[in-house]
Amino acid sequence: MKIAIVGSNRGIGLELVRQLTRDGHQVYAFCRIACDALRGIQPHAIIENFDVTRPDAMQAALAPYPITDLDWLIHVSGLLKSASLENFNTETILEQFTVNAIGPILTVKLLLPCLAPSAKVALLTSRMGSIADNTSGGSYGYRMSKSALNSAGKSLSRDLKHRGIAVFLLHPGFVKTQMTGYNGHIDVTTSAQGLIRLMHQKTLADTGTFWHVNGDPLPW
Ligand SMILES: NC(=O)c1ccc[n+]([C@@H]2O[C@H](COP(=O)([O-])OP(=O)(O)OC[C@H]3O[C@@H](n4cnc5c(N)ncnc54)[C@H](OP(=O)(O)O)[C@@H]3O)[C@@H](O)[C@H]2O)c1
Repeated sequence: MKIAIVGSNRGIGLELVRQLTRDGHQVYAFCRIACDALRGIQPHAIIENFDVTRPDAMQAALAPYPITDLDWLIHVSGLLKSASLENFNTETILEQFTVNAIGPILTVKLLLPCLAPSAKVALLTSRMGSIADNTSGGSYGYRMSKSALNSAGKSLSRDLKHRGIAVFLLHPGFVKTQMTGYNGHIDVTTSAQGLIRLMHQKTLADTGTFWHVNGDPLPW
């Protein structure tokens, strides 16, 4: 298959590129700056300068690559900045909205002509974006931005269904990465395996749904 991973230079994105390349897929790894680990994997292509907050830069980065018929597009890029009620900070809230909620939509819009007619799109969200599942409060910007992503992902699923393109909102688990200070319940290997399993399992009939990496449906 032809697969694009956006946010591929570390964490869950890097591991997705590793596993999918190992499994023989043609992987297009989008990132801002490639690291040695990503280069070492030798995916089909590494597309740098892809900052999901800068539409002009995204377009310029993509221009040299005539990508067609992508089977999967997985948007992984995300940003977590702590924000409690006490240190509520508009600037960091907006920053997280720009990366977490607007970035994925700009990515899908730009890569739409590159998708196969029956492509699957996954947006890595978080169960912290679930309003129904919020039992601990706090994390204002992150929660708000991921809820907004969930809302936008639902709209995308409606807008793209008639083209045969499915859109899923996926929670990767609590994963030991830089984002979590390497705290978590699972490692990137397990998370990426679960995400790939979900991508294989889910079909157009499931478009617009929200899943935990362990296979459980999540409430909005
Ligand atoms: N880890 C968890 O427990 C957990 C839980 C729930 C959801 N998630 C979600 O899963 C995704 C991956 O998280 P992770 O744990 O792998 O995080 P990570 O290790 O911090 O990686 C974040 C990735 O996002 C990229 N990124 C950030 N800002 C960007 C921008 N403006 N343009 C393009 N790329 C940008 C980073 O690239 P740079 O190196 O260029 O900054 C990096 O590749 C995120 O969407 C996150 O919200 C993670």
